[in-house]
Amino acid sequence: MRKPFIAGNWKMYKITPEAQAYAKEFKNLVQNVTDRDILICAPFTLLGTLAKEWNNSNILLGAQNMYFEKEGAFTGEISPLQLKDIGAQYVILGHSERRHILKETDALINKKVHAALQNDLLPILCVGELLEEREANKTETVVKTHVVEGFKGLSQSDALKVTIAYEPVWAIGTGKTATPEDADAVHVFIRKVLAEIYDSSTAEAIRIQYGGSVKTDNVDSLMAKPNIDGALVGGASLKADSFARIVGFVKI
Ligand code: PGA
Repeated sequence: MRKPFIAGNWKMYKITPEAQAYAKEFKNLVQNVTDRDILICAPFTLLGTLAKEWNNSNILLGAQNMYFEKEGAFTGEISPLQLKDIGAQYVILGHSERRHILKETDALINKKVHAALQNDLLPILCVGELLEEREANKTETVVKTHVVEGFKGLSQSDALKVTIAYEPVWAIGTGKTATPEDADAVHVFIRKVLAEIYDSSTAEAIRIQYGGSVKTDNVDSLMAKPNIDGALVGGASLKADSFARIVGFVKI
């Protein structure tokens, strides 16, 4: 059984007083939730504050990116060691905004996946196609490349520590969601790719989140699909009450 895994991605939003107010409100709202994993991936500047606020709580903490070296002359970058030190347990890697705005390649993302695991950070590997790729029927080719290249060189035991987030780029921040059926079909395909790389029990164990305009009013129908194991939520994670409602999705 895959435990539902709901993650928020704050992107480049919030400063300290806002994060502190959110932290207190959200902690109260979700304190009794035990049957789902809850994660917030915050900007680097807020991780220390949130780690203190959520110490000994049921809320996991993550970053949104990192460099693949432990330390060194890499001005402006942040290392897995530094993320662990500040209290992060997870890191989002290969988000579409990093692939497409910051031009990150599959090879770079794969180095980051290895570095995260070597330093005891759990990666959320984002995969997903652009609108023109979907319209050209290339969704499976693109997603397969992201998965195969992202997992390259990972042992089976490391692969089991990775969460995948399927985020069709055309659905991110646009209000357009893939239908639950379309998303589920891609998740099934991703599991097939994982089974080819590893085996079917490994593929069955790896959690696959859906991301792209997940909101309070569509989370229940998305989470009803057998291969959708969670959500990676951008905009709707910025308010504690709406994100708590998403975390508390109703099983239908
Ligand atoms: P969105 O973002 O929920 O605002 O569409 C999702 C993401 O980019 O992870």
